[in-house]
Amino acid sequence: MEALKHESVEPTGSSDTFFQISKRGASIIKRLQNHLSQPHELRTMRQWRINDAARMAGISPSTLRKHETPSGLNVAAEPVKLGKPSYADNGQRAYSLSRVNDIRRIMGNYKAKPDHADPAIIATSIFKGGNHKTTTTVNLAGYAALLKGHRVLVIDLDPQGTLTTYYGYRPGFDYVDDDNATIINAMTEDPTAIKNAVVKTQWDNIDLIMADSRLEGLDLTLYNPDMNQQKSMGPVFNRLSMALEFVKSDYDVILLDCAPNAGSLTYNAVQAANIFLFPLKPDASSISSLTSFTHILHQVTQYTKPSHAYIRGFLTDIKKNEESVLMRSLIETLLNTSSGSLLLENVMIHSVELERATNDLSSVYEVTPRGDIQAYRRAINAFNRIGDELFGLIETMWGVR
Ligand SMILES: Nc1ncnc2c1ncn2[C@@H]1O[C@H](COP(=O)(O)OP(=O)(O)OP(=O)(O)O)[C@@H](O)[C@H]1O
Ligand SMILES: [Mg+2]
Repeated sequence: MEALKHESVEPTGSSDTFFQISKRGASIIKRLQNHLSQPHELRTMRQWRINDAARMAGISPSTLRKHETPSGLNVAAEPVKLGKPSYADNGQRAYSLSRVNDIRRIMGNYKAKPDHADPAIIATSIFKGGNHKTTTTVNLAGYAALLKGHRVLVIDLDPQGTLTTYYGYRPGFDYVDDDNATIINAMTEDPTAIKNAVVKTQWDNIDLIMADSRLEGLDLTLYNPDMNQQKSMGPVFNRLSMALEFVKSDYDVILLDCAPNAGSLTYNAVQAANIFLFPLKPDASSISSLTSFTHILHQVTQYTKPSHAYIRGFLTDIKKNEESVLMRSLIETLLNTSSGSLLLENVMIHSVELERATNDLSSVYEVTPRGDIQAYRRAINAFNRIGDELFGLIETMWGVR
């Protein structure tokens, strides 16, 4: 990347200094994003080999070979269930996301959400910054879209817009003139505006509602009775639930990625969700953050009365050290209730491969493994186990388990 030209004007006071930093920051971010993250239009999805494709579709590679033959026919010259395979340039069978999802359906392995059931609406939230909320959201979306074949909507509720960048959109640069680009209009003007906020992603079956710094102003707008159609739109913490009514029949899973705070967007997410999920690193600050977060949520939800099928924490960034073991046991104690543990049994390990995927602004499900393949498999397997456990709860909620 080319170096930026030097700013020649000396700042004359704090405000001037802040202005100059923010101006330079905006142009650096734009260059960085052009450099690092592939824009949405250029993003393509990877393909998978036969062993991975079969496993993801819930069958063995030999069953897949039996039902998908080079001629599309079996030995008795009858058409096989899955027809002919596609091949990569190297001559090996190659499977796209939509092909994996077709195979799953044709082989009868798709666990559909019943029409009458609500989608799983999962809010990933905790007070504490950098506690893997967005990583969880983006990988759960990948898991739901690829390993379950569901229709997924991800909603970025964080003005930082980190989730948005995972799908090739650039917060603050794409759609800046479009008032409907984020969730704001749907929450302050007209709930049906949510339909205009939905954009496509590189995944056939993941849609996105993006975020940018305009979301910072939402607290001011929502809490000001003159500014947000309170008469027609009702209680400020129900706005996201209201808006979701207009899109929820299009999805099986809706993921809400919250900012590390307890602002109005977080309360709206808590209210709209039927599953409340908090990632916890095994450290003292996670414990204190969860303690103060639940204290506030207790006060708010006494009045708002959200209806959660499940409230669950899960451990992330697990390392093999004594400190991790001690903190883990304290968190287990914290989440042990009279009706059972609120902690998922499976944990996410500390993973350099996952870190690498997030640096590439991708989920582990999209990156083509490179470097240490064993470490990549450990990361994806750990996330799969969390996905399996969570979707076990979701399928119970849907009554299809
Ligand atoms: N299992 C993991 N092992 C190692 N690093 C991880 C893991 N999961 C996430 N990370 C790293 O942790 C960092 C923070 O993750 P993430 O952005 O998901 O946190 P967040 O809670 O969404 O942050 P914020 O509060 O700013 O929204 C990222 O750089 C990511 O690469
Ligand atoms: Mg985040």
